[in-house]
Amino acid sequence: MKITLQGVYRYIESEAGSIRVLENINMTVEQGEFIAIMGPSGSGKSTLLYQIGCLDSPSFGHIFLDEVDISTEPESIREQIRLHHIGFIFQNYNLLPTLTVIENVMLPMQLANTFGKERRARAAALLRLVNLENKAEEKVMALSGGQQQRVAIARAMANNPGTILADEPTGNLDGKSGKEIMEVIHSIHENQKITLIMVTHDPKIASYADKIYYLDDGKLRSTVF
Ligand SMILES: Nc1ncnc2c1ncn2[C@@H]1O[C@H](COP(=O)(O)OP(=O)(O)O)[C@@H](O)[C@H]1O
Ligand SMILES: [Mg+2]
Repeated sequence: MKITLQGVYRYIESEAGSIRVLENINMTVEQGEFIAIMGPSGSGKSTLLYQIGCLDSPSFGHIFLDEVDISTEPESIREQIRLHHIGFIFQNYNLLPTLTVIENVMLPMQLANTFGKERRARAAALLRLVNLENKAEEKVMALSGGQQQRVAIARAMANNPGTILADEPTGNLDGKSGKEIMEVIHSIHENQKITLIMVTHDPKIASYADKIYYLDDGKLRSTVF
């Protein structure tokens, strides 16, 4: 899936008036690319990711996933795009604490009406991919942060998306667990040809990407190859 942003602006209304969070963002991410977005806190990195992931919409401008302009699609279609074509990885994992590891991974498949048996088999395969097959039946709360993030990676891949969006995936982890997570993410990217867009403010983490973009006060400033 090729991702194209054309003149994307995002204004957010607040009590102090209208805040410009994103200003005239133009970028293209080719199928299978791994890009990192860096920038200071508050520069709009999460907001930019949410535009691409159909979690928020631009005030002006267009976002294409291949030929589909997701910025003008109705919410029902955007929901289907989120479910089938995009996987999310968040800083705080966003797992359901009362469910087991494998139930968390199966959840998106349930929403996509995947047949029950196939659900479990696929979730087990994904847990093998992130080296957590022996934790399948544990509650996620019993796992370390690094392990929880690996569950989140498996869940992000549940419906076989073309694109994974990761917002500070190592932000809550120590250096060693962060490195392990990046090795998992990197090997998934290499083996599955998934497009990966990752927000981070850690240059070491960003260095795994093929390309780095910088966001500063809502403007995409430069690209380093
Ligand atoms: N829903 C919102 N209401 C008010 N301000 C918001 C909202 N979402 C984002 N912002 C503001 O937009 C700016 C960018 O936020 P964000 O995208 O979260 O930045 P980053 O992820 O780079 O830290 C910040 O100044 C933040 O306060
Ligand atoms: Mg953020």
